[in-house]
Amino acid sequence: MNRRTRLIFLALSLLLLVGVGKYVSGNFEFLLKEFWFTAGFLLLILLSLIDQPHFSKDSSIFINAVTAGISLLLVNEENRNWIFWLFLGVTFYLAISSYIILWLRNKPLNQENKWLQFFSRINREIGKPQTLFSAFFLWGAVNKFGVNSNQFNALLLYWVLFMIVNLPSVSKIINSLFEKNAEKKEEFALGTIFGVQSKNTFLVKLFPERKEIIKLFDFVEFVYSIDEKKKTRKGLILDSYLLNEEQWIKVLTTKEINEIFENKDIYSNHSDDLIYLIKNVPETEYLDKFIGIITENSTISKIRFIYNSKTKISEGQLLELSVQGTKVLYQIIEGITKIETLEQKNQTGLIIGEAIQLGTWNNEKLQFEQFGWVPSINTPVYIASKINEPEIEENEYIVGEIPDTNYPVIINKDTALSHHLAVIGVTGTGKSIFSRNLIRQYLQDKNTKVICVDFTGEYKGKFNDLKPVKIVSDEDEEKLYQTFEWVSNELQKFGNQQNKEKLKDADRFIRDTLNSSLEQFMRSEDVQISIFELPDVSNSSGILEYTRQFFKALFYLAKTENNFGKRVCIVLEEVHTVVPEWTFVGISDKSSQSLLNSIAQIALQGRKYNVGLLVIAQRTANVSKTILTQCNTVISFQEFDKTSSDFLANYFGQEISKVLPNLKFRQAIAAGKALKSSVPMIFEVPEIKEPEDKPKEENNERPTKAISNAGESSKIKNDE
Ligand SMILES: Nc1ncnc2c1ncn2[C@@H]1O[C@H](COP(=O)(O)OP(=O)(O)O)[C@@H](O)[C@H]1O
Ligand SMILES: [Mg+2]
Repeated sequence: MNRRTRLIFLALSLLLLVGVGKYVSGNFEFLLKEFWFTAGFLLLILLSLIDQPHFSKDSSIFINAVTAGISLLLVNEENRNWIFWLFLGVTFYLAISSYIILWLRNKPLNQENKWLQFFSRINREIGKPQTLFSAFFLWGAVNKFGVNSNQFNALLLYWVLFMIVNLPSVSKIINSLFEKNAEKKEEFALGTIFGVQSKNTFLVKLFPERKEIIKLFDFVEFVYSIDEKKKTRKGLILDSYLLNEEQWIKVLTTKEINEIFENKDIYSNHSDDLIYLIKNVPETEYLDKFIGIITENSTISKIRFIYNSKTKISEGQLLELSVQGTKVLYQIIEGITKIETLEQKNQTGLIIGEAIQLGTWNNEKLQFEQFGWVPSINTPVYIASKINEPEIEENEYIVGEIPDTNYPVIINKDTALSHHLAVIGVTGTGKSIFSRNLIRQYLQDKNTKVICVDFTGEYKGKFNDLKPVKIVSDEDEEKLYQTFEWVSNELQKFGNQQNKEKLKDADRFIRDTLNSSLEQFMRSEDVQISIFELPDVSNSSGILEYTRQFFKALFYLAKTENNFGKRVCIVLEEVHTVVPEWTFVGISDKSSQSLLNSIAQIALQGRKYNVGLLVIAQRTANVSKTILTQCNTVISFQEFDKTSSDFLANYFGQEISKVLPNLKFRQAIAAGKALKSSVPMIFEVPEIKEPEDKPKEENNERPTKAISNAGESSKIKNDE
């Protein structure tokens, strides 16, 4: 009988007894005065139903004996016949012997000395409430009413009924009346708990004869015997093993699983530690979100989890879990297979995922904030849920989102421009289209001018809608090249043969032409963008010189005139085509070095004068370190080579840089000053649609110049 049934039974028995008592004695005085009632039936009912429903321990026997002895004192002097003295003797014997046994015993009974076992067992039989107090009751009732009286027979009948009903087998039958689910529930019993791992994960040994077939991710219900409050728990079957010919399962319990069932119990009167299968599971998205549980060797910055899920995941995926009650987000960077040996020969295969901490999401500031602690073992890991649509400031732009989420990666356009930005990645990963899109964002500020230095010819026609201009007119350009050529020839002569006067004039001419062209571009209100393409000349050192003089003039204007109040972004598309590598044949080290110096000067000091760089490169090795280290924001698409990953590992951190070779199409890692969140993260660039190129006829009208001598220029476009 369980506790509730016993209480009901107790109440009914008492009620009936009071009724029978009233019937036999005519009033209620027996409740206090009569021995048969107080010492007999009342104690019989109370002790057998409440105190010792299953069996009586030695200590209970002692208490029974003392209670019995005291209650015997209720018997009047005239009724104290030999039976009375026998009862008193027995109670004395029970009290004393039980007390001695209590003192002597210190082992489980079946391991004790056999005399001790003998006396303890005898005492338990004599001293249990059913024996002792039944005897008292019968004797008291006979004394009071006489054997042949109706009253005695009524009480006897009542006693017989009570004793029969109180038999374990009968009580079980009665019990099943109250327990509706009891019988049915047993069909769904799967096994018993035999181990627990960090409070929320249970190991269960399955019954070989269980009736139900179970699958991974089935839900179960149980009561764990060690729980103080004995609350029912819901769990999820995570894993199953076959060990020593026994089947085990691993069951995870979480608050969230309880919530699927609205915290309601499916079964009642669970046997402790038995696991029951839940057949009807309400509709839930839990299994779509559940990924696994935290495992050993997790750290604050990087978690490791056992992947145990119905849901597919991949690198870049955002995960959330609760650390000390706070929701912390992590991004997957690695998956590792592992074999775990369970016992001797049995093995199980696992997948361990690794994810780096992005932190907690601050929805006001729209950024991640670092969280300073590690999750505990077996913490459930979920796919991050959606957040509210972010509202960004005017000078901000969402460059992309964390893969499969709506967590935005927000860049501050002002900082990105002024503190230089580098876009890195192998060919075809989307650097150029990403950069052009960013340039369009920069240009939304009407005070910004963009000069794209593109020797690859890729930008041709891409900005037609913005009506790009040529800063230096074709005519002036022609003259400039002639001048460069003349100067270069002149400089090859011996010093005393050079025409110093004419050289000075040439220098002034170059400077003035470039300055005035640039000034015109800066001052104009309606054009914002210019594309600096590979010029139509055969002399590659002339191109280098031209480019160098151009940057020099630009920097001069920035320094002296502050660009006439404009902000300037210089885009260096495929930077190695603009500043060729030193080893490149046919180019004098000197002119390439001085071009590099003029760009480096802008990189180092441009910020002071409102000039920023947007450097696009395939490999970091191709870019001067002076320029690259000045880029305070880096966005890197897929990269394979070691120099690049070493450089980027310094910038992004070792862990996340490992994913660089695995980045998918349109995925990149972003970090740096211009990004809202300071932690590096993997994000996905949205599908970018560029405005359609204008029809051919119109193309010819635009002021930019086509490349005609592809043969020559291909020298400079060494590369991919
Ligand atoms: N975000 C994107 N949206 C749309 N198309 C893209 C995107 N990223 C890359 N592409 C496609 O990939 C191709 C290569 O992109 P591109 O920017 O030229 O690469 P890269 O400059 O790195 O060599 C483009 O032609 C474009 O069609
Ligand atoms: Mg490109």
